[in-house]
Amino acid sequence: MRIGILTGGGDCPGLNAVIRAVARRSFDSGHEMVAVREGWRGLVDGIFAPLGRHEISGILPRGGTIIGTSRTNPFKVDGGVESALRNFEDERLDALVAIGGEDTLGVAARLYREHTFPVVGVPKTIDNDLSGTDYTFGFDTAVTIATEAIDRLHTTAESHNRVMVVEVMGRHTGWIAVMSGIAGGADAVLIPEHPVTVEECCAQLMKRHQNGKDFSIVVVSEGYELTYASGESKLVAGEARATDQFGHVVLGGVGDALVREIEERTGFEARVTVLGHVQRGGVPTPRDRVLATRFGLKAADLVQAGNFGRMAALHGDAIVDISLDEGTAKLKTVPPEWYEVARAFFG
Ligand code: F6P
Repeated sequence: MRIGILTGGGDCPGLNAVIRAVARRSFDSGHEMVAVREGWRGLVDGIFAPLGRHEISGILPRGGTIIGTSRTNPFKVDGGVESALRNFEDERLDALVAIGGEDTLGVAARLYREHTFPVVGVPKTIDNDLSGTDYTFGFDTAVTIATEAIDRLHTTAESHNRVMVVEVMGRHTGWIAVMSGIAGGADAVLIPEHPVTVEECCAQLMKRHQNGKDFSIVVVSEGYELTYASGESKLVAGEARATDQFGHVVLGGVGDALVREIEERTGFEARVTVLGHVQRGGVPTPRDRVLATRFGLKAADLVQAGNFGRMAALHGDAIVDISLDEGTAKLKTVPPEWYEVARAFFG
């Protein structure tokens, strides 16, 4: 077989580990690999490159993706799907492994459903917001980076008696915020799923300071809407409010808005740190390398078995396969019991 592989959506540590695992297992079965460059754009525009043993050598610990990525949605490009199907044929591909989050895998699910396209999926995202898998790879690395940042911010917060607000990614779920908040000992964590009001957050900080602490760490998820006791709420998004081909608004800026609220309402000096794309950069943690590797082997096995329309998933400690439809059905939000673990240490 000639097996294509693509990575779509935001890059994330561990993508190369998946590519390596899919390729190594497929080479062992006598198949050839072809890189579909820059996500779905590569299939729509016919951008292919050979992916041999040389290309995948030494990539296990490398961040990013050696085959490039994009947020292209073939269903939003004029003639995009037809072009993708034609290029797939012309390149004499027999199967495709799509590595991505809800958007990339959503396209894979639709192509399979509507065109019986021979595709299998691998779930990736630092946001950990995919239903159907307990964890996505990339998430552990992002949480590790955010936790280290919180540790560092603690020492400077303490020295200056400041409130340090850390804005983390996660889109419309608060997984990174809650996990790094628990691991870093945050004094408040604000996430989209459990919108604590600005007034409540400030009251918690005041209480903490009255109890003798003169600094605080607040972790806020980029998708948290500034929520007020009056019932009003507002999402802080990128200035241009730009949306990508999947209709996502560019988030960012809530940390800065929160700092202004905290300073005004409490009188405490506050600063914001926006971790941004640092959370997606650099080497994957060992846990992410292992998960990515196991997912990659599973994807190659699904291709070998002709088991298309499926994706690898983690259930407990086992790697299983589920349908792409099931895997992309809904957003996996942070359940209350996880938030309660973080909340036990607020104030
Ligand atoms: O989905 C991963 C993610 O990093 C989100 O957490 C974030 O909102 C978004 O991608 C940022 O996208 P971009 O890389 O296009 O700025």
